[in-house]
Amino acid sequence: MKITGNTRTLGIFGDPVEHTLSPAIHNAAFEALGLDLVYLPFRVSPEALKGAVESVRALEMPGVSVTIPHKEKVIEYLDEVDDLSKAIGAVNTIVNKGGRLKGYNTDALGYLLSLKEETGFVPKGKTIIVIGAGGAARAIAYSFIKGEAKSVIIANRTLPRAKILADEFNGCASAVTLDGVGGFMKGADIIINTTSLGMMGEGELNIPVEALPAHAVVSDIVYRPLDTQLIKKARLLGLKAHTGLGMLVQQGIIAFELWTGLKAPAEVMQKAALAALGIK
Ligand code: ATR
Repeated sequence: MKITGNTRTLGIFGDPVEHTLSPAIHNAAFEALGLDLVYLPFRVSPEALKGAVESVRALEMPGVSVTIPHKEKVIEYLDEVDDLSKAIGAVNTIVNKGGRLKGYNTDALGYLLSLKEETGFVPKGKTIIVIGAGGAARAIAYSFIKGEAKSVIIANRTLPRAKILADEFNGCASAVTLDGVGGFMKGADIIINTTSLGMMGEGELNIPVEALPAHAVVSDIVYRPLDTQLIKKARLLGLKAHTGLGMLVQQGIIAFELWTGLKAPAEVMQKAALAALGIK
């Protein structure tokens, strides 16, 4: 990578940030297209967030990504946010247009796009089970409801949290406990894990996927490892499996296109993500 007097800087604000794969994905894309841009990780504590956002204007950065724990809080420091991030209440991408900062949520859009691309799944008229009720669950549940899903069942360890999320969707969503999700599997078209269960060093998600109908999709947003126990179990059962790689790469593709106005080199970005995960 060549840094010149004209190189512009982008990056990701998060805390912790050292496990992010975004620098590998975006720098590979910049290099492939010969763009004089560089993308860096910035560890930004909650107290420093306001100043960090101000620096995007001061340093004339084309934009930044935002990750845990800042996706919600960052909204108050922006000039505007698009309708999707407003509805979800979270931003993961900031675009700087001449000093005006606009927030977007490319997670939700990236998730649905990759799901459709890899499995052909479209939400319209479908019954969806979302495992988890945190920020990722909110973005994904929202995108399914926007896609006219018939019903979204939110299954969470802590039932009141699932209820709070389900209540946001005016009767299109319901809440169940994680332990009680088994009874809903038979009627589901897709199940999505949005929790950290299945991630390296975390516990496993034990749900009876064998009770799903044969056409169902099993989707996991965890990408370390790519083939979680849940994904392996789905494949063994002959169900369609959708790993966390798709969302990771697609949200990056959408962000790249927002920042540069160019078509993203999707294959390069996917390869870079796999290499960063240690998969050839
Ligand atoms: P994110 O913004 O990444 O979605 P989050 O807001 O912290 O993260 O939400 C994490 C989700 O994973 C929650 O639904 C959480 O369940 P609780 O609401 O009961 O805490 C779920 N989760 C995390 N660890 C879990 C575990 N060991 N067992 C079951 N659910 C777990």
